Amino acid sequence: MQIKKISEGIYDVGVNDWNIRDFHGYATPTGTSYNAYLIIDEKIVLIDTVKKEFSDQLIRNISAIIDPKKIDIVISNHTEMDHSGSLPKVMHYIGENKPLYCSKMGLKNLSMHYPQKWNYHAVENGETLNLGKRQLTFLETRMLHWPDNMFTYESTEKILFSSDGFGQHYAGYEIFDDELDLDELMQHAKKYYANILLLYAGQVTKLLSTVKDMGLEFNMICPDHGLVWRKNPDAIIKAYDQWSRFTTTNKAVVVYDTMWQSTKLMAEYISQGIQSEGVIVRPMHLRTCHRSDIMTEILDAKAIVIGSPTLNNNIYPTVSDFMTYMKGLRPQQKLAACFGSFGWNGASIKILNNELLSMKLQMIEDGSLKIQYVPDDKGLSECVEFGKKIGKAVCKQE
Ligand code: FEO
Repeated sequence: MQIKKISEGIYDVGVNDWNIRDFHGYATPTGTSYNAYLIIDEKIVLIDTVKKEFSDQLIRNISAIIDPKKIDIVISNHTEMDHSGSLPKVMHYIGENKPLYCSKMGLKNLSMHYPQKWNYHAVENGETLNLGKRQLTFLETRMLHWPDNMFTYESTEKILFSSDGFGQHYAGYEIFDDELDLDELMQHAKKYYANILLLYAGQVTKLLSTVKDMGLEFNMICPDHGLVWRKNPDAIIKAYDQWSRFTTTNKAVVVYDTMWQSTKLMAEYISQGIQSEGVIVRPMHLRTCHRSDIMTEILDAKAIVIGSPTLNNNIYPTVSDFMTYMKGLRPQQKLAACFGSFGWNGASIKILNNELLSMKLQMIEDGSLKIQYVPDDKGLSECVEFGKKIGKAVCKQE
């Protein structure tokens, strides 16, 4: 069994979920991890648990280091079941009367998930807990990612236990960021942010500013998913700062599906037009690109261009799926345009236009293009011109 030592007396006793490929709609090609942290001091603390089906493995991982019954306090930074699912087994094993620390919302939410009358201690924001040599401070981080989230900060070594924050859905035998190529790790972190935390950008900005005001420093950031930031905690903080402020590059993402290849042809010629203006373009066919990978590209793009043929007076089902997913994550401060082929009723364009406006995206002027049946040479030229218009708008955008 691999013992994952984070620092002297601190261990990750969590598990890798190698086989998960869909995390509520998010594609996880390498699987993910549910990290849980054991701190051994005069008091012994367990921070978070793992998904219910891995509870025996969690107990085994703890047992490889200490007798789990010696745990004095359990801290729940987050109620979502990937982190609390093993609480019933852990609490039963170590003693139901052991204190269970959580935020006030954590108390409410845990009580609605588990009927056990545990010995809850709902902490105040900023409350501290002395373990002996080490001291923990609890920081409320509501809506990162649920109302109950909090961070736990260890001040002796300046280690942040950041729950869902700064995570990556990545499973591997590495423990630390410096054991994986940084670009690869940042790509996992970017995908995680784009698909889990994008909706909560305002809270991320606020949190980073609070952390700055408090003068908190981090030597290590230990998230509940993926690898521990040991060498580059500043890199992930900087990335969160940029992502939460919607910092973009000159890039357009062209997302589409097609029925008889006409909308696909339009997408390709529109993409050529965008590229000819010196803008990076990512044509993404919904049958070959996963919605979560598309959102990762959209995160730092300046323009979202959506294409759908009209099917039964509506947009295509795959495009509808994507629009629902994207609307939920609420990307902001982006240009938008739409296009599609139609037979006798171009309803898809009207629907897409309305959907993009309802998301408060900025439609480019004359930002829709529809072509009946199959685009001929003139139609293809119109697509290139449409793409150029999008490219120019992207270049003009601050
Ligand atoms: Fe990893 Fe919001 O749970």
